[in-house]
Amino acid sequence: MMTDIAIRTIDLTKRFDDLIAVDHLNFEVYKGEIFGFIGANGAGKTTTIRILTTLLAPTEGSAEINEHDIKKAPQKVRDNIVLVQQNPYALDWFLNVEQNISTFVRFYNYSMPKRHVKDITKQIMLDFDIYELRKKKVITLSGGTQRRIMVARAFACSRPIIFLDEPTIGLDAYVKQLTWNYIKRKSHDEGSTIFLTSHDLNEIEQLCDRVAIIDHGRIIMIDKPSNIVSLTGEKIVTISYEGNINVNQLIHDKKAIFISNKDNKITLGTDDVDHLISEISCLQKYGLKILSIQNSSPTLEDIFIKLVKEGKNIE
Ligand SMILES: Nc1ncnc2c1ncn2[C@@H]1O[C@H](COP(=O)(O)OP(=O)(O)OP(=O)(O)O)[C@@H](O)[C@H]1O
Ligand SMILES: [Mg+2]
Repeated sequence: MMTDIAIRTIDLTKRFDDLIAVDHLNFEVYKGEIFGFIGANGAGKTTTIRILTTLLAPTEGSAEINEHDIKKAPQKVRDNIVLVQQNPYALDWFLNVEQNISTFVRFYNYSMPKRHVKDITKQIMLDFDIYELRKKKVITLSGGTQRRIMVARAFACSRPIIFLDEPTIGLDAYVKQLTWNYIKRKSHDEGSTIFLTSHDLNEIEQLCDRVAIIDHGRIIMIDKPSNIVSLTGEKIVTISYEGNINVNQLIHDKKAIFISNKDNKITLGTDDVDHLISEISCLQKYGLKILSIQNSSPTLEDIFIKLVKEGKNIE
């Protein structure tokens, strides 16, 4: 029976000696979904991806990719996926751009006629604006261009599930936009499932249907980006001021969380805006000049920073 689940993990766990990098993960990703997987450095994102793509064995638990068990049917799993790794050394640096893409496409589609591989390679180079560079050896290209080739060649392989581990790191705004459009196209037009990690939370908010937040190997939240932002009940308060502001005094009563303080603007998170504004107003007695106070809904990035700062688990 066909299901609508592309990725399922069951108590998936990975230990490296004493460290539990991935700790009993249980989640499902639906077919055709763009699924964001976010967390601080070292939270366990790449380790999870390496297990799901059969590069690393789990210590405990299991996972299924289009219903194929990663341990019992690894080749079936590989037939369903393509991966853009976080690490850039996956390219062959002494082949040119065209050869890097065409060998990758041929590797993933071993029975495809050569002519067809050539056409696909040409089209993806045009789509990602690297056709002019096709005869250049990869070693001679900039880091961002190498990244662009890694992303482009993965999209050139027709696989139902695409794992992207920080695909847009180091890409300029134009290429980022190209990549975002391609991700949307793959998901919405072709029904591909996208599993995406990124530290650009604006990107995650823009692209993803659902997001999981992982912290110390455990999922602490999983929902639509808009729900994560509104469920926490947080508001963001931005205060423009002149003079010196005592941040500790502002957050002393723990009704506010410090987010940032730059260019004479301090940003705090709070679930009690009225209380915070009255506290801030009191500071004027001590010589602080407040120019404006604005409150707004937080972005996913604001919530993420707050969760990481608090080290708080919300389940
Ligand atoms: N092969 C390994 N041996 C020992 N520890 C490892 C190994 N691979 C990863 N780790 C550890 O597991 C934890 C999770 O690492 P992982 O690479 O999954 O993090 P990440 O969420 O991808 O982080 P980043 O955002 O920096 O890419 C880290 O503490 C890391 O040091
Ligand atoms: Mg990583």
